[in-house]
Amino acid sequence: MTKAMKIAVLPGDGIGKEITPQAVAVLEVLGERFNHPFEFDHGIVGGEAIDQTGVPLPEDSLRLALEADAVLLGAVGGPKWEGLDYAIRPERALLGLREELGLFANLRPAILYPMMTDASTLKREVIEGIDLMVVRELTGGIYFGQPRGVEKIGDEEKGINTLVYTTSEIKRIARVAFEVAQKRRKRVMSIDKANVLEATELWRKVVTEVHTDYPDIELSHMYVDNCAMQLIRNPKQFDVIVTTNMFGDILSDAAAMLTGSIGMLPSASLGQSASAHRPSCLKGMYEPIHGSAPDIAGQDKANPLATILSAGMMLKYSFGLEKEAALIEKAVFSVLEAGYRTPDIAAEGTRVIGTREMGRRVIEQLK
Ligand code: IPM
Ligand code: MG
Repeated sequence: MTKAMKIAVLPGDGIGKEITPQAVAVLEVLGERFNHPFEFDHGIVGGEAIDQTGVPLPEDSLRLALEADAVLLGAVGGPKWEGLDYAIRPERALLGLREELGLFANLRPAILYPMMTDASTLKREVIEGIDLMVVRELTGGIYFGQPRGVEKIGDEEKGINTLVYTTSEIKRIARVAFEVAQKRRKRVMSIDKANVLEATELWRKVVTEVHTDYPDIELSHMYVDNCAMQLIRNPKQFDVIVTTNMFGDILSDAAAMLTGSIGMLPSASLGQSASAHRPSCLKGMYEPIHGSAPDIAGQDKANPLATILSAGMMLKYSFGLEKEAALIEKAVFSVLEAGYRTPDIAAEGTRVIGTREMGRRVIEQLK
């Protein structure tokens, strides 16, 4: 018998609970059609896990993720848990999973679908044809650097976070960026703040060194403030952007919004090691870029496409199923082409439908 492809499903909070089942349904349909033995195991993370167990990433859920070949995550967080201590906030579930699974490379593609041009706040001529990929370092930098915390000094308080990068951390993410670029337009823009921050001066130096192994790729460097500006001024100049954890967090939101809706963009977080069960697979966690959107949760209004496209990235990167991944992209394209939209991407002349119907329409294309 073929070995099961184990997928840990962690819907999380808010709309995570509505969009994740749509992506699972898409995977199930493809599994049946092409005979892939997908096996789904569900776990709780984020606010729901805090309510039930006191912590955002319970042992059981972490084990599920560690034992799976790939993880499908919805979103975590909500106003209910905002006042909590940092160590037990819903967001810690994400950071904990990234750290524990060693998911150091975060791939965030921003593609503008031609029929969505009017959903962007930018002019048509600026954004038409955008197709870029942010490669964000995900387990280092200021998000994880020590020392950190808030100290009392007399009657003052001092908040501390530390930006740290080692040569090996920079090398491995640079390699991912160059390898991603080899399958695209062969251009990498490395983003830093080397004029002010030593850690990113090292970043620039190491990326430049690693580049000598990839003579087919064109490498350039840009300061992060300039990159923020260039993303709005002329985003088409970018192919692959590689950058630190925090810069990548910020720039990927900006890149996402160029395409009109953050509700459309998937992501993949990849580690070095192969999955325990399927040595040929890359362990990965797949999730939409957007958050848990508590304001529209439970109303069948959320856009499931980012999560469905994330499932597509899972097929491609964790299971090597390129053809099936392409089918998902094509199905999403067709449904949009036919004029169906969730409220976040509604425009004149389109038909607004809910989360479930959007999922159903994508599945219809895949049968
Ligand atoms: C993201 C999110 C997370 C991050 C938060 C929720 C911890 O903004 O994935 O971009 O900052 O990495
Ligand atoms: Mg972010």
